Amino acid sequence: MEMIWQLFGVHITLFLIILISFVSWLIIPRRFKKVRLYTILGCCSVLIVSILIGMYTYWPKEYEKDYLKKKIPSDISNIPLKALADSLDFWIGMAINPTYSEYDYIASQFNSITAENHFKPGKLLKDANNWNFDFSIADSLMDYAIDNNLRMRGHTLIWGKFPGMTHPKAWISMVKNASDPKAEMENIIKKYIETVMGHFKGRVKNWDVVNEPMGRKVLFPSIFTETMGEDYIDYSFKIAHETDPDCELILNEAIGDYDGPQGRSFLSLLKRLIDRGVPIDGVGLQSHHINQIHDVDKLKKYIREIGKLGLTVEITELDVRLLLFKDHDDPYHAQGEQYYEIVKACLEDSACEGVTIWGLSDKINWMDKIPPFQWKSPNAPNILDENMNMKPAYLGIWRALKENQLNK
Ligand code: XIL
Repeated sequence: MEMIWQLFGVHITLFLIILISFVSWLIIPRRFKKVRLYTILGCCSVLIVSILIGMYTYWPKEYEKDYLKKKIPSDISNIPLKALADSLDFWIGMAINPTYSEYDYIASQFNSITAENHFKPGKLLKDANNWNFDFSIADSLMDYAIDNNLRMRGHTLIWGKFPGMTHPKAWISMVKNASDPKAEMENIIKKYIETVMGHFKGRVKNWDVVNEPMGRKVLFPSIFTETMGEDYIDYSFKIAHETDPDCELILNEAIGDYDGPQGRSFLSLLKRLIDRGVPIDGVGLQSHHINQIHDVDKLKKYIREIGKLGLTVEITELDVRLLLFKDHDDPYHAQGEQYYEIVKACLEDSACEGVTIWGLSDKINWMDKIPPFQWKSPNAPNILDENMNMKPAYLGIWRALKENQLNK
């Protein structure tokens, strides 16, 4: 709701004013000619204002690419991110998609990859009713990782949110029609994790066992919580650990307000999992900057708090929407500084072991495909522009790594 309000707030207000004045015009008796005239005039003016604001807001904007005027220093173009990260024993990762054509470039720049979509239940489990899997694309991505000595983050086994989009809708009817829904849910989780983790055993050494379990304050309500409550998380980790005891098991979450209700509840959840002896190794903080700029000081504190629990942290899905910096003189520069600050924050805390960037160039990015963000552009959230030029975002990551190396 908060997100919808941020994006459409003015329009929702204007729409309500138009609606109220139009309804008033309809119900005011005809003998009050003047009042009716002013009401309908008011209604039309608000309508015009709202169309103008709409055009201004949703008309694609372009910002000056000042970075293209500056020559990239040779040490930056000669030393890839991966070389710096390797020397720091740090993961620098990239989300990859079979539609990319820059595979060699990615292998030269990064030491870790995550399949943007092709390790997800919706892609692997082609027919949930018959447990029919298709690993072909995931396997080809895995081969690419092995051939190029890249770590593959497994993303993701069980996903708390959005049936159909992220976990198979068929699971809902399978569970609801079962004589013992809880037992059926456990069977499904067990069978899914055993099949998928088993398939990649020895090749994927770091899995997001559960992704996005949180709603705003409590767990996101789903077929998992309906049948098992919070225990679906414990159970998924238990099965994952039994399936591959050598694998790092991660709880991945999208948190924007680190010291707000969601951030605090997630920390309490972590504490409860640890108290119950759940075999969790670390936390993935997605860090999509999609409708707000994350506060880096709060992020640092948050990483520290997770570290104190004995868990590792990784920034697992970093991207930074350009439009969030529209009030800056040079939005591309400001975007680059945010990348710098986030990578630096991670590097400075020993609990934080890596940063994965969610997309390579602005030519293809997921924000351009999901409503409502696709209507408000430029999203341009990635580290290279649509022509593969290094943006200040790339330089920011490079600088954070280099400074850390110099300080060692
Ligand atoms: C996104 C992909 O980038 C899109 O291509 C896809 O259409 C939807 O999912 N949190 C996650 C990621 O954990 O898996 C999501 O990836 C982005 C939000």
